[in-house]
Amino acid sequence: MPDIKLLCREYPFGSGDYRAAVALRFAVLRAPLGLGWGAHDFDAEEESFHLGAFRGDVLVGTLILRPREGGVLQMRQVAVAPEEQGCGVGTALVRFAEEFAAAHGYATLTAHARMTALAFYRKLGYRVEGEPFVEIGIPHVGVAKDLPVTR
Ligand SMILES: CC(C)(COP(=O)(O)OP(=O)(O)OC[C@H]1O[C@@H](n2cnc3c(N)ncnc32)[C@H](O)[C@@H]1OP(=O)(O)O)[C@@H](O)C(=O)NCCC(=O)NCCS
Repeated sequence: MPDIKLLCREYPFGSGDYRAAVALRFAVLRAPLGLGWGAHDFDAEEESFHLGAFRGDVLVGTLILRPREGGVLQMRQVAVAPEEQGCGVGTALVRFAEEFAAAHGYATLTAHARMTALAFYRKLGYRVEGEPFVEIGIPHVGVAKDLPVTR
C-alpha cells in the first residue's frame, strides 16, 4: 500500500475524476468478465452521487449512490483498483458512503452484491434480501443496511 493517505470525497458527474472512475469501473467490473458497457449502464448517473477514494490526485476506489424511492440509496459500481484491493479501501469508501447517505437524510443503503463480494458486504453489516439472481451473467444477491438518523 502506498504511503499517501487515503481520502474519500464526492466528485462531480462529468468531471475528470468521473472519467477516471468510468475507466476504473471498466477495468475492475467489466473487462475481467469480457463485457463492454450495456445500453443502460449510465442511466441516472447525472442524478446520482459519485464518491471516490483518493491517494493524492489518484482515484483508487469508486462507487455510485443512486436515489431510489422511500429514502433509499442504491450503491452501484463499487470498484477498488486491483493493486489496492484487500487493504481497506473498499471498507473506508463504503463507510464514507454510509455517513454521506445519512447526512443527506437517507435511511437505507442497498446494493446488488456480486456473490463473489458478498462476504465483504456482510462484514460491513449488510443483510441479504431476497433470493439470488443473475445480472450481467453472474450471480448476485440484494443486500441492505439501515443507517442511523443523523439529521
Ligand atoms: C469487493 C471490493 C470492492 C472490496 O474492496 P477492498 O478494498 O478489496 O476490501 P477491504 O480491503 O476493505 O476488505 C474488507 C474485508 O472484506 C473482505 N473482502 C474484500 N473483498 C472480498 C471478496 N471479494 N470476497 C470475500 N471477502 C472480501 C476482506 O478480506 C476484508 O476482510 P477482513 O476485514 O476480515 O480482513 C474490491 O475487492 C473490488 O473492487 N473487487 C472487484 C470488484 C467487485 O467485486 N466489486 C463489488 C461488486 S458488488
